[in-house]
Amino acid sequence: MRKNIVAGNWKMNMNHQEALALYNGLISNESEMDENVQVIIAPPSIYLSEFSQIKSNRIALAAQNCNENEKGAYTGEISAGMLENLEVQYCLVGHSERRAYYGETNELLKKKVDALLQSERTPIYCFGEVLSDRETGNHFNIVKEQVIKALFHLNEQQIIKVVFAYEPVWAIGTGVTASPEQAQEMHEFVRELLAEKYGQTTAEAISILYGGSCKPANAKELFANPDVDGGLIGGAALKIETFVPVVNGFIK
Ligand code: 13P
Repeated sequence: MRKNIVAGNWKMNMNHQEALALYNGLISNESEMDENVQVIIAPPSIYLSEFSQIKSNRIALAAQNCNENEKGAYTGEISAGMLENLEVQYCLVGHSERRAYYGETNELLKKKVDALLQSERTPIYCFGEVLSDRETGNHFNIVKEQVIKALFHLNEQQIIKVVFAYEPVWAIGTGVTASPEQAQEMHEFVRELLAEKYGQTTAEAISILYGGSCKPANAKELFANPDVDGGLIGGAALKIETFVPVVNGFIK
C-alpha cells in the first residue's frame, strides 16, 4: 500500500528563532499526529543541519531544492550528497516557484531527480498547470509533459521511489483550492499515465499529494479522494494549529 504523506513547505519564511520554535513545537505535538501519516517538513536549507540533530520520532526532513551536479563551483547551491550526509531524506523538485522565478525546466528537473536518486534521497516532484492552461483546457497536456519529460526515463525500481505532488499554480497561496473533484481527476489521470508506462501495481504504490491552499477546512474532503494520498502544504504549515489538523485530515 502507498503511504499517506503530509509535507509542510515553509518556503522562505521563519527567522532562526521562529523556525526552531515551530519545529520543537511540532515535535511536542507528535503524539497528536495520525500515526498512519508520514509527516515531512521542508524548512529553509540553512536550518536543516540543526534540525537533523534534533530527535523526532515522526517528522522527516526535506530540502526545498538541490543542485543537479555532484559538486563543484556552483556558488549558493547545495547538492543531493549533502542531504545524504545530513540524513535529510526528501527534497522538493520543480516547485512552481522555482519553475517560474528561477527558470527551472523539465529537462533540468530530470537531472535533479537523477542526482537525488543517486544519493538515495526521495524526490518530491512538483508539477501543475497555470490558470491560463486550465482555462484553455490544456491542463492535462501540460501535466503529462511535466511528468513524462522529468520522470519517464526512470525504470520501475526508480519511479516507485518518487513522491508526486500536483500543485495547480492558480491554487498556490491564493486561497482558491482545487475542488476535490478537480484534484481527484488530475491525480487519477497521473496514476493512469503511470499505469500505462509502469503497470498498475507500480502506479498503485506511488503517493500523489495535492498542494494549493490546502488547510484544515478543506483537507478532509481533498484527502478523502481515492487518488489523493496527502498534501504539500504552504501557508497552513507555518502554524502548529493549522498544520496538525491537516496531518490529521485523513478519515479513518
Ligand atoms: P499554499 O498552501 O500556501 O497555497 O502553498 C502550497 C505550496 O506551494 C506548497 O508547496
